[in-house]
Amino acid sequence: MHTITEVIIFYFSGTGNAKQIATWFAEFAEKKGFDCKLVNIQNIDTKTISSYASDKLLMIISPVHGFNYPKITLNFIIRFPKGNNRVVLMNTRAGMRIGKWVTPGISGISFYIASLIIKIKGYKIQGMIPFDMPSNWLTLHPALKLKSVKLLHKVNYDRVEKHAGKIFAEKNVFFAFKEILQDLLVSPIALGYFFIGQFGLAKTFYASTACDNCGLCIKQCPLNAIKMLKGRPFWTFKCESCMKCMNNCPKKAIEAGQAFLIIISVISSITASLLLNHLFFVKLSSGFIHSLLFALVFFLFIVVFYRLQHLLLRYKFTAKIISFLSLTHYKFWGRYKSIPDHRWKE
Ligand SMILES: Cc1cc2nc3c(=O)[nH]c(=O)nc-3n(C[C@H](O)[C@H](O)[C@H](O)COP(=O)(O)O)c2cc1C
Ligand code: SF4
Ligand code: SF4
Repeated sequence: MHTITEVIIFYFSGTGNAKQIATWFAEFAEKKGFDCKLVNIQNIDTKTISSYASDKLLMIISPVHGFNYPKITLNFIIRFPKGNNRVVLMNTRAGMRIGKWVTPGISGISFYIASLIIKIKGYKIQGMIPFDMPSNWLTLHPALKLKSVKLLHKVNYDRVEKHAGKIFAEKNVFFAFKEILQDLLVSPIALGYFFIGQFGLAKTFYASTACDNCGLCIKQCPLNAIKMLKGRPFWTFKCESCMKCMNNCPKKAIEAGQAFLIIISVISSITASLLLNHLFFVKLSSGFIHSLLFALVFFLFIVVFYRLQHLLLRYKFTAKIISFLSLTHYKFWGRYKSIPDHRWKE
């Protein structure tokens, strides 16, 4: 194995956390005298990726989505050509603040799936490092306050400095192993998220009456998941809930309707039970059949009701009711984007 001459950092980022960590690593790599290149995974044509000379250190960083790397990152790793470079895997997770403490997010199976694929391709894993940047999962909780965001940025900057020292001295850093038990315990949820993430969460997004059709969300989506339908943005199943659109909309018009998802889940569950009991005469205790039927009904309802909601958003009165039922509509919920260095360093 050659010693490092150059560092290539591949990143995917929805709201800037992973990009921020990548940028800090680049900063420390350059201080150490290495050339460093930042490559955004969303701009890579995965059909034409070429391999890298073995004296280049490859680093990959991406947020965790549903206890795993998002599909765009996994797809990139799967398509990566064979090689024998050193590879450092990193992720950004949902950090929160309690007083002066930063609570950790959960990596789940992200490192283990990715390292398995990378190992099979012949690479040597030099590190697996999680970073607990501010959580951007605004479908579930309000945005963190600026004071917390600043603290989390500072703590993570210090962590990057510490880990970069070791990584660029060619030492191994397997910080992620500390959490292996908890990661394995949540692995079944990671599989479930593959379904819920793409077919459920993505369909919570809609543009409220504040939308002025500027088209920015469509242009910036890393997955081309939004299209203009009947004069307003429409979210397709390609969406991976990276949160970029919602947090970048200049009008704060993108909302995630939690009530929509809850209502669809409840009526899907009732419909699945009724179908089993009255149509197929199967006892409710057959959990597997119920879950399967629930999934089918849920998918059908989400397609139909999301279209219906899209139609209703054209009318002021119904659009107001839809927004009224969404927590993300209210000011206190806020929006999140990673903040520039000068704002937390000052
Ligand atoms: C849909 C979704 C799912 C998420 N799942 C997890 C998770 O399983 N574990 C975790 O620690 N954080 C989770 N998060 C939080 C993000 O991983 C975290 O905020 C990350 O730092 C965002 O990075 P980015 O700004 O580069 O996109 C999730 C966020 C979203 C939007
Ligand atoms: S970025 Fe916001 S205002 Fe612009 S089209 Fe998208 S939802 Fe509408
Ligand atoms: S539609 Fe929005 S949340 Fe979904 S992938 Fe695109 S930018 Fe991310």
